[in-house]
Amino acid sequence: MNQAPRKYANYIPIRELKAVEQQLFPFQVYAELRSNTPVRYDEHRKCWDVFRYEDVQYVLKNPKLFSSARDRANTSMLTTDPPKHKQLRDLVNQAFTPRAIEALAPRIQEIADELITPHLQQGQMNLVDDLATPLPVIVIAELLGVPAEDRQKFKDWSDALVKGARDDSDEAFQELMEEKKRNQQELAVYFRAIMEERRQQPQDDLISLLLAAEIEGQKLSEEELVGFCILLLAAGNETTTNLITNAVRILAEQPELQQRLREHPEHIASAVEETLRYYPPIVAIGRLARETVELSGQTIQEGEQVISWVGSANRDGQVFEHAEQFIEDRKPNRHMGFGFGIHFCLGAPLARLEARVVLNTILQQMQGIKLVSETKLQPIQSAFVFGVKEYPIQFESL
Ligand code: HEM
Repeated sequence: MNQAPRKYANYIPIRELKAVEQQLFPFQVYAELRSNTPVRYDEHRKCWDVFRYEDVQYVLKNPKLFSSARDRANTSMLTTDPPKHKQLRDLVNQAFTPRAIEALAPRIQEIADELITPHLQQGQMNLVDDLATPLPVIVIAELLGVPAEDRQKFKDWSDALVKGARDDSDEAFQELMEEKKRNQQELAVYFRAIMEERRQQPQDDLISLLLAAEIEGQKLSEEELVGFCILLLAAGNETTTNLITNAVRILAEQPELQQRLREHPEHIASAVEETLRYYPPIVAIGRLARETVELSGQTIQEGEQVISWVGSANRDGQVFEHAEQFIEDRKPNRHMGFGFGIHFCLGAPLARLEARVVLNTILQQMQGIKLVSETKLQPIQSAFVFGVKEYPIQFESL
């Protein structure tokens, strides 16, 4: 979801991760980088990379030194610093409380059942296309109050927001940027129209709630509200798709886990946390140094890009015992899969809930889950995202 340095947007940024096998399992490379060059400047990409837990945490918890405001045109909370960030976040927090999210559980269960049931008899499904992609899009559309008849249009816009370039040429990059701009403009027009309707006739949905949200007489401007709706799609959909897919990938790669979790459904919530540590959907988070600063003996100059590798920090043996093992009831689990500090993922309660419902449903309805044999996994070609494009599974129905 963050933007990589211009030319490398959407491409695997570390030259060390060349082979597809490494992109599908980058953690060995992270381990080497963590011990050999924990904080290093990459001349090729013109940015710093930070690999150890302690250093990543330091970067993320110091917004005064490491700014999120890399793209001045964008005023969403993800790319603003205090005090503006707090003002935006406090306003939307009113609508995004854990309790409000928990109330969505029955509806999320219904959607999961609707998407899973048609495939049970065949004993096969394309996890990404049939379940992990549509589920979060439907949930967010309903939450915002997008009418059912606009669902397909909404999904297309949502997909286009996170699409990568077709190759790494300058033309492809330009084309992609123009397409994204067009897409964002269409979405903005669409959200403005819904907002106009809700202003006249408020409904029981997030857009109506946000239109009314107020702190000390301050409200979100129309531009901020539109920006926030677009941010929810960009930050929430593909990430949740990858969390669901990565969780099922772990079940298929470690089949004994399936029965263990079926016998201990009380470990499903911690298994979701462990997935966020072990196969995090976001592996890297970008910042801009605001001052010249020392980090683990290296001097980062003001104005330089800093990439914090949470995918590596999450495997740091200084913090996690048996860091390379998936332990479904790991406690404590201080992973940074949702980031850390003031920008900690606003949608975490929603993403957790969706993943829990899906895992529980899958384990109740399927056994012997495996990747369809001969499938060649393809990594998503993105600098910051860890996931696969397709994950066809086969199973026996229960
Ligand atoms: C921020 C990950 C799902 C909305 C973040 C950040 C991470 C993250 C790492 C911090 C970025 C930074 O520090 O620059 C994830 C993952 C998800 C997920 C792994 C799914 C598994 C969602 C969902 C929503 C959402 C479902 C909303 C519906 C946001 C927003 C922010 C954010 C609005 C910005 C918060 C701020 O700047 O204060 N997310 N996210 N995310 N996420 Fe998520």
